[in-house]
Amino acid sequence: MGKPTDAAQFAAEFKLGMRSLAGAVNIITCRHDGRVFGMTATAVCSATAEPPTVLACINRSTTTHEAVDRAEIFCVNVLRHEDRELSGLFSGVQKGEGRFRPEQWEQLSTGAPVLKNALVAFDCRVVNRMVHGTHTVFLGEVQQLLLGRKGKPLLFADGQYAKLASIAHGEPLPEGLDYWGE
Ligand SMILES: Cc1cc2nc3c(=O)[nH]c(=O)nc-3n(C[C@H](O)[C@H](O)[C@H](O)COP(=O)(O)O)c2cc1C
Repeated sequence: MGKPTDAAQFAAEFKLGMRSLAGAVNIITCRHDGRVFGMTATAVCSATAEPPTVLACINRSTTTHEAVDRAEIFCVNVLRHEDRELSGLFSGVQKGEGRFRPEQWEQLSTGAPVLKNALVAFDCRVVNRMVHGTHTVFLGEVQQLLLGRKGKPLLFADGQYAKLASIAHGEPLPEGLDYWGE
């Protein structure tokens, strides 16, 4: 178990393992040459607080990749669980600028589209990048942010969308897990 016997098996096991990596669902947007770009992404996380920086991994085959690479800006729009439909729209249901319904979007300092209804949106300038295999890892320093009204994030785990549910204190936990601070 877990020990690769050949490359294909290892790749399959890796994909299976990645399904357990739960993530928040975001839409990464960009504006380049007067056009808007956007795609669904879970490979996003906070990088440093000083300076305020987020990290995003974008497949080099996506249309948003070229825009971010050239314009050197992007915005991470963190989705609410009610906005699952947007995740589908920005991952293939629609193509190109048809993904954007103008009334849902505004702009902050970089000009990348900012989702008015996002839980939070981080409007960034690319300060560093690293190409690795199929993806580029972009570091974006946050120029401005939109703190939306309170809500719960949309999550993606085990190949499906999920909602966040707090674990009540005292609720039995699976073996090996503990509550924070205990
Ligand atoms: C839940 C979910 C998470 C995704 N996460 C990423 C990601 O982190 N990075 C990435 O490059 N593509 C990710 N994708 C795939 C892109 O959203 C998808 O390829 C998109 O259609 C690319 O845009 P394009 O069609 O304009 O090239 C994800 C898709 C889904 C449904």
